[in-house]
Amino acid sequence: MNVSLSDSNEFDVCIVGTGRVGLPLGLSMLETGLRVTGLDVDPAIRASVNQGIMPFAEPGYDELIARRSFQVSGDPAVIQSAASIVITVGTPLHTHIETDLDQIRRVLESIGPHLRTGHLVCLRSTVAPGTTQFVEKWIERNTALKVGDSLSLAFCPERIAEGKAYEELRSLTQIIGTHDQTSAERAERLFSGLAPDVMHTDYVSAELVKLFNNIARYVHFAVANQFALVADTFGTNIYEIRRMANHNYPRSHIAMPGLTAGTCLRKDFGMINEWSPYPDMLLAAWKMNEFIPTFLVTHLKQRVPVHDRKVAVLGYTFKMDTDDTRDSLVPKLIRYLEREMPSEIRVSDHHLSAEIELSPTRRVENWTAADACRDAHCVFVATNHSGYDDVLNQVALENPDAWIVDIWNVGQADKIFYQAKMLRD
Ligand SMILES: NC(=O)c1ccc[n+]([C@@H]2O[C@H](COP(=O)([O-])OP(=O)(O)OC[C@H]3O[C@@H](n4cnc5c(N)ncnc54)[C@H](O)[C@@H]3O)[C@@H](O)[C@H]2O)c1
Repeated sequence: MNVSLSDSNEFDVCIVGTGRVGLPLGLSMLETGLRVTGLDVDPAIRASVNQGIMPFAEPGYDELIARRSFQVSGDPAVIQSAASIVITVGTPLHTHIETDLDQIRRVLESIGPHLRTGHLVCLRSTVAPGTTQFVEKWIERNTALKVGDSLSLAFCPERIAEGKAYEELRSLTQIIGTHDQTSAERAERLFSGLAPDVMHTDYVSAELVKLFNNIARYVHFAVANQFALVADTFGTNIYEIRRMANHNYPRSHIAMPGLTAGTCLRKDFGMINEWSPYPDMLLAAWKMNEFIPTFLVTHLKQRVPVHDRKVAVLGYTFKMDTDDTRDSLVPKLIRYLEREMPSEIRVSDHHLSAEIELSPTRRVENWTAADACRDAHCVFVATNHSGYDDVLNQVALENPDAWIVDIWNVGQADKIFYQAKMLRD
């Protein structure tokens, strides 16, 4: 079926920023029959995509990318050949509680001269409330185009979870925020081959939908972490309590405690928080999630010395079964461990390459999990990657006196702190 959006263009859509969001989206759109091209400033991303190789792990796309039908350019003029432009660049926070609009601004500066009458621009990055309006004002000040007249503009948030893009791009409702009918209709047509349905609203409401989705999750995990600390205070078992609380009870679902951060959850709360001068629930959730590495290290120390001991850290990425390290809490955990002056810290993550970048100036060896744990005195399960249950069972056999710190309950010992031999019982 030909679902081309405009026969007068070489491409239906140009994805600007072919990273973890833009690349899967572009490939999925390609699969629906759209003609898709890309623009990215990163030569390594371009080289990898153009050779048909995924630059990062995202299940479902290896075969699609290998066809090499989706090519990424470094020349902003490429947008002229497409009917629609989807912007999926990064939107981090500054060090202060402040959204960093630099990548959005740079995109506008680079594509601005190539925007033309009839273009549909969809902003898809996660943005602070008011950013789509900023994009509209930028376009109208810096080009001769007018939104709702000669150019269409929509905010169409991405709500997939990393690792699930392939299925979720086809199963999640597409929210579309616009301020005029033509933009709304065009954005709906662009996403109609992919999303099962769409819901229309205004710019800010669409921006808030995305932020509320992520922040609700961040707070949900913060509550779970707080419950873990409360249970610990009373010497009780959070995992057993959670199982009972969730069992056959329809009105609350308590999440697992864990190291909660990541490039989306933590920074998205900042996009709302910058609008309020007062301490609020979101700030409390942030503090709770940020406290977990401190809690794990200080409570381990109460059981066993860390000073002059060997420590293994299993998992470095921000969540399970991904190769994405952005905004992971594990580097923070490692820095807290280093303050205790252990004799050695061995980091292991089989999703990463031979060296792990602890900071822009520090790289460390990436151990195999088995080697890292072999004669370690303490083993931290920092990320709950699949397969770590087997690793812990092996530690129980080979290094039974080792102390395990297992906030994810990977070993199913129903304890955060325990000695590996417990797993043999
Ligand atoms: N990663 C996720 O799971 C996820 C999910 C939903 C929403 N989001 C949001 O999507 C946005 C993108 O996130 P991501 O994880 O894909 O980031 P990313 O860093 O993986 O991708 C961004 C890409 O944009 C490129 N880029 C930066 N400036 C550019 C410019 N001026 N011109 C062209 N390309 C440029 C970068 O080189 C990079 O390849 C963010 O706002 C994020 O919050 C991410």
